[in-house]
Amino acid sequence: MAPKPIIITLDGWSSCGKSTLAKALAKELGYVFVDSGAMYRAVTLYMLRSGVDITDEQQVQQALSQIELGFAFNPARGASDIMLNGENVESLIRELKVAEQVSKVAALATVRKFAVQQQQRLGAAKGIVMDGRDIGTVVFPQAELKIFMTADPETRVLRRYRELAATDPGISMEAVRENLALRDHMDAHREESPLRQAPDAKVLDNTHLTPEQQFTLALGWAKEAIG
Ligand code: CDP
Repeated sequence: MAPKPIIITLDGWSSCGKSTLAKALAKELGYVFVDSGAMYRAVTLYMLRSGVDITDEQQVQQALSQIELGFAFNPARGASDIMLNGENVESLIRELKVAEQVSKVAALATVRKFAVQQQQRLGAAKGIVMDGRDIGTVVFPQAELKIFMTADPETRVLRRYRELAATDPGISMEAVRENLALRDHMDAHREESPLRQAPDAKVLDNTHLTPEQQFTLALGWAKEAIG
């Protein structure tokens, strides 16, 4: 009999490689990978484009009613690209101008309710790896395997700087450092679903691990959890 599919959650600080690990685990296990941060980023892009005043609850509600999020598998990346009202915005949402606003948007209770409902629907059949901030604590508190990822702040800055500089050579290391520090602070201190390590999460500090090493470690945990 095929083993029962489980839910694997990966939460942690900005730019500590959650999506890289989640994608690799999902591929190995034949699971669906969902990057929940991409959903908050896409909502933020919509708000920026349409000039929504995010301090106005009614405007936020109205904007959310106009947003349809979806995913389209991109074989080149081996993962799904996020679709905003039918438009592939996977590259646009990675820009620093979105990163600079996303934690403010993600702190809004209405926005979280909107995203969490969709995330829970995506995980209803299990067989899913989802990464984010509140996945093991709020979205799937019953998940069979919870991983909390962390890495030294400067290592995270360097990793994200290299990623962004590949498409935007004008980017400064200082701007990336500031953005990560600000998002870490806002994500951990907001009222709604702050970033927290679930008490039953396994901690993975990958400061000194290669992607292969962290994959081996996490795959071992996944196999244990699957049984
Ligand atoms: O990849 P990176 O670490 O830069 O962040 P992300 O996963 O793309 O998430 C972007 C932002 O969305 C975070 O800084 C959070 O403010 C928010 N987020 C959240 O509040 N809850 C989640 N489950 C995922 C992301």
